[in-house]
Amino acid sequence: MEQQKRYGHFDDQHREYVITDPQTPWPWINYLGNEDFFSLISNTAGGYSFYKDAKFRRITRYRYNNVPMDNGGRYFYIKDGDTVWNPGWKPCKTPLDFYECRHGMSYTRITGRKQGVEASALFFVPLKKWCEVQKLTLRNDSQATKQLKLFSFEEWCLWNAATDMENFQRNFSTGEVEIENSTIYHKTEYRERRNHYAFYHVNTPIQGFDTDRESFIGLYNEFADPQAVMEGKPRNSHAHGWSPIASHYIEVTLQPGEQKDFIFLLGYVENEQDKKFEAPQVINKEKAHQLIAELDTTEKVDRAFAELCKYWDALLDIYKVKTGNDKLDRMVNIWNQYQCMVTFNFSRSASFFESGVGRGMGFRDSNQDLVGFVHQIPPRARQRIIDIASTQFPDGGCYHQYQPLTKRGNNDIGGGFNDDPCWLIFGTVAYIKETGDFSILDEMVPFDNQPGTEVTLFEHLRVSMNHVIENLGPHKLPLIGRADWNDCLNLNCFSMDPNESFQTTENVTEGTKAESLMIAGLFVVTGKDYVALCKELARRRQDDGGSADVYTAEAERMQQAVDEMIEAVKKDGWDGEWYLRAYDFFGNKIGSNECDEAKIFIESQGWCTMAEIGAEDGMVAKSLDACKKYLECEHGMVLNNPAFSKFIYEYGEISSYPEGYKENAGIFCHNNPWVIIGECIAGRGDDAWSHYAKILPSYVEEKYQTLHKVEPYVNCQMVAGKDAARPGEGKNSWLTGTAAWMWYTVSEFILGIKPDYDGIRIDPCLPETASDYTVCRKFREAEYEITIHPNGQQKGIKSIVLDGQPVKGAVIPYSAGKHIVEVNM
Ligand code: GLC
Ligand code: GLC
Repeated sequence: MEQQKRYGHFDDQHREYVITDPQTPWPWINYLGNEDFFSLISNTAGGYSFYKDAKFRRITRYRYNNVPMDNGGRYFYIKDGDTVWNPGWKPCKTPLDFYECRHGMSYTRITGRKQGVEASALFFVPLKKWCEVQKLTLRNDSQATKQLKLFSFEEWCLWNAATDMENFQRNFSTGEVEIENSTIYHKTEYRERRNHYAFYHVNTPIQGFDTDRESFIGLYNEFADPQAVMEGKPRNSHAHGWSPIASHYIEVTLQPGEQKDFIFLLGYVENEQDKKFEAPQVINKEKAHQLIAELDTTEKVDRAFAELCKYWDALLDIYKVKTGNDKLDRMVNIWNQYQCMVTFNFSRSASFFESGVGRGMGFRDSNQDLVGFVHQIPPRARQRIIDIASTQFPDGGCYHQYQPLTKRGNNDIGGGFNDDPCWLIFGTVAYIKETGDFSILDEMVPFDNQPGTEVTLFEHLRVSMNHVIENLGPHKLPLIGRADWNDCLNLNCFSMDPNESFQTTENVTEGTKAESLMIAGLFVVTGKDYVALCKELARRRQDDGGSADVYTAEAERMQQAVDEMIEAVKKDGWDGEWYLRAYDFFGNKIGSNECDEAKIFIESQGWCTMAEIGAEDGMVAKSLDACKKYLECEHGMVLNNPAFSKFIYEYGEISSYPEGYKENAGIFCHNNPWVIIGECIAGRGDDAWSHYAKILPSYVEEKYQTLHKVEPYVNCQMVAGKDAARPGEGKNSWLTGTAAWMWYTVSEFILGIKPDYDGIRIDPCLPETASDYTVCRKFREAEYEITIHPNGQQKGIKSIVLDGQPVKGAVIPYSAGKHIVEVNM
């Protein structure tokens, strides 16, 4: 095995990951902004910013799949004599005397030193403000006076990130800017339908500027050697069309030991239609001036930064564990929760693997993401549930994705993914259990955003369940539609045209027999939740003196459907040693010992074990053992085994991937937690823990920084599986359902702190070696300090003592205030 180099380390005290070598095996990025204004920033200051929607409101330009990979960003060039350097090393790549990038909670600090000068840049988006702050501190550590020339750089994107990269016959003529003192305004298309502009400001007089890219960089130069910088002479260019940029030029004199701050501000402004201009052709800058005034001194910026840190203190104070195992604690207390916020905000839209133009918010994705986030800011989760449900159709089907800016279903993708409806139950139940807010079920929510179609959210849940039972196949198992969770298992697609998308090509559904065991398991899990919810509603009705009949009947109806599904799985969904994956269009088995390849798949093992289908007949234990035997490897569990070695027309996209990658026997981390939860429910704590630790970033970080390639502080979607050329290599970091599932798994099933309607259910499942640990959990208006004594047990609660009083059963009843809980296993 090759020597694994290290590029950084965790700093738990500051909740940072510290990168000490700029040449990481892949750009290691961070996200700035928590609502509305967002930025992506790499460890060399690459990346871009946008307002709400990475497709429709792109503020700065980014070129994906570039050479080198991460090219373009917010760059500071420092010219010190003949030496030009950047604090983040790129783009000049001048060797630095010191380099450090600290990615923290919604901020990044990049520090470089060269020739006795230190430049430290703090990047963050202040709470509730539409801007990125860049606080650059220059310090002269040398004995001599320094005369520095400082150039800033941002490249404007012409708003719609898709057309920005396509429509040059137009784009090269539309670009417009205005310059006012130290502020450069980007106002392309503002003269017509747009009511928004952006600006780049610095809080000091400037000695020059550039707004035209070619004038600044030169036609034959690059970001690494812009002509204006190299010659130390700004062009004072005014962009007319072509490619507008923003660059300030500042002459800085620093005495030995002297230090100066510069506050750069990348801002975004929207104006009302009748207040767009202050004079013909001149944009109304009032709101920009206001925003600048709020952040134009070091003190104001430091205050805004302190507020951001406090905001994260509070968020991360809601669930805190102390196990004595640093690697576990830092993931639970910091990075897993942080990644959950990011996936909640972005779904699968904008990362260094997602261009931000292709995908909006996924129906199933966003429901899952909110389970990792709901404890942090419940009101935002609430709104998200309403937004998602509003893209549903009256028959319970739904748009697969919607655009964050418009909140409208995305017609390019459409619907027909038959697992989608179930996830609405999953998300909503999690929200109610966290908050106790049943009123969300009475919210009036439209179908397909059509005014006049509103029904209660509860009715949306009901039609979601119905969608499954109204779409059963010949074995009484759920029809798969375009695909279930595995977007690549396209059993009704039949495409031989490489220009067609497997996922959106019109399905051949007439006469299909394609059924999914994964949806079957998902239906049983969410169906049980739905039944429990109906019973809870019935009980509440009764307590209020009302009639519970409707809910009782609904509970019975769905319990029967769940029971029938369980029977169908036991009868036609079991392969002898594991659960089948599916039946294809013609009714042939997928994921069976009878198949040549891909005899076993992970999804149905995860969902059917979570659903405990056939547990009494030993099916669950056999299935979990089969996962260990056939799917598990050094880096986690692969999706299927053996990998497909050839393309199978009837299966769609899945076998289009080479062996070991993505949905063809990659370790698709998202689904590993399903099996881990299956293990926890079955009480197999050692197995659960060993699967979990394999994909826990902090464990991977320790051993595989080079091999793993992508950021070691968050989960990635896919790790190359055992059949791949480079097993263990990660791809598609950050935006993955893995974040929420890892959180759900560890917080509720391993550590065993489960919100429930009436309180907190305690049900840990631990490795035999686990020692005592304490979880501090804020829950509604209460705060619980829960200490668990495993006593060598993997599962099962012997006693719970709440504030000195023994509790019957496994649920700590909710009551406001501070509580101490002692649990013996
Ligand atoms: C991606 C999609 C998700 C899908 C998964 C497996 O993560 O965002 O919706 O379930 O891939 O195909
Ligand atoms: C692992 C850790 C241990 C922790 C336990 C909690 O065994 O090593 O420190 O208490 O998990 O689940």
